[in-house]
Amino acid sequence: MLRKIAKWTGIVLGSLLLLGFAGYWLIARNITQRTERTYEFAAENLTIPTDSVTVNRGEHLAVIKGCTDCHGTNLAGKIMIDDEGLGRLVAANLTKGKGGLPADYVTTDWVRALRHGVDRAGHPLLFMPSHETTMLSEQDMAAIIAYCQQIPAVDNELPAHKLGPVVNLMTYLDKMTLLSVEKIDHDRKMVAKVDSTEGIALGKYLAVSCSGCHKPDFKGGDPVAPGFPPVPNLTSTGNVGKWTQAQFIATLRTGKTPSGHQIDNENMPWKMTAQYEQKELASLYQYFRSIK
Ligand code: HEC
Ligand code: HEC
Repeated sequence: MLRKIAKWTGIVLGSLLLLGFAGYWLIARNITQRTERTYEFAAENLTIPTDSVTVNRGEHLAVIKGCTDCHGTNLAGKIMIDDEGLGRLVAANLTKGKGGLPADYVTTDWVRALRHGVDRAGHPLLFMPSHETTMLSEQDMAAIIAYCQQIPAVDNELPAHKLGPVVNLMTYLDKMTLLSVEKIDHDRKMVAKVDSTEGIALGKYLAVSCSGCHKPDFKGGDPVAPGFPPVPNLTSTGNVGKWTQAQFIATLRTGKTPSGHQIDNENMPWKMTAQYEQKELASLYQYFRSIK
């Protein structure tokens, strides 16, 4: 009798394990197919000014939109993550050096990447937040491109991506934006220009950069990936609802909250928010406070 039970337990456990492997295999195949799809978008051009005011504005945007966080301060790309569970995620070298963008990578290619989330061959850009850059105004996108197009070439040849099981699983469950191309409303018209006066409208425009982690409703929730802290609610019903504008701005400049908690830049990019202008942080505060 006991031997029979042991035998059946073994069979059941073995089958569960096999089912698990088969399930994972199907998930991994699903993600591979989605990353290998080819998309087609009509080429779109933007006029790229080259005056120093525009280039300086582009540099500011490249910092506050996190381009330099992921692609490196010289935009020569880097390995963002390399571990067993997540795999290897690599931000491209955006210069024209070795391992970088091809010499004939033109403005329409930049627009395709930032607006649609695909490379010039129509293949999805992995882990590149184009679902956020697609919300940029034409004026801001042009400034970013102007800045990127004039950076010095840096030779930096990088390895390819290698997606780990955690990324595959989280993408399958829609808990991580690996494929921004799938999240974008590709028919949406870009706005030409955003009103840059301090206030809720500017805050709403800027908050797109916070929505990936703090969730589209800014109410926070689950950690962005296993091993990270939960993401706080930024609206009037969270801590920010109790903070003054000065406290909010100090938090985003120093990473230290009014209660004295020091935020780790790896969890929440406060070294990036530290570089926002006063007016931009004030606008974010006013926008978050306006959400009930
Ligand atoms: C969260 C990290 C992250 C941020 C933030 C980010 N990128 Fe990327 N970007 C990537 C990764 C990763 C790739 C490589 C995608 C691939 O090859 O599959 C990439 C690819 C690109 C490419 C594609 C080049 C090609 O092959 O066509 C361009 C252009 C680009 N990024 C520009 C930008 C700009 C400009 C910004 C800021 C507005 C930015 N990125 C912000 C991670 C990021
Ligand atoms: C990569 C994910 C990520 C992005 C992007 C991000 N945050 Fe955060 N943020 C976090 C996490 C995680 C915490 C909690 C950190 C901790 O508890 O140490 C946090 C904490 C905060 C806090 C402190 C809130 C509290 O109640 O203590 C504020 C304020 C904040 N973020 C604002 C922003 C703003 C504004 C932006 C966009 C400009 C932004 N964050 C972008 C992940 C992110």
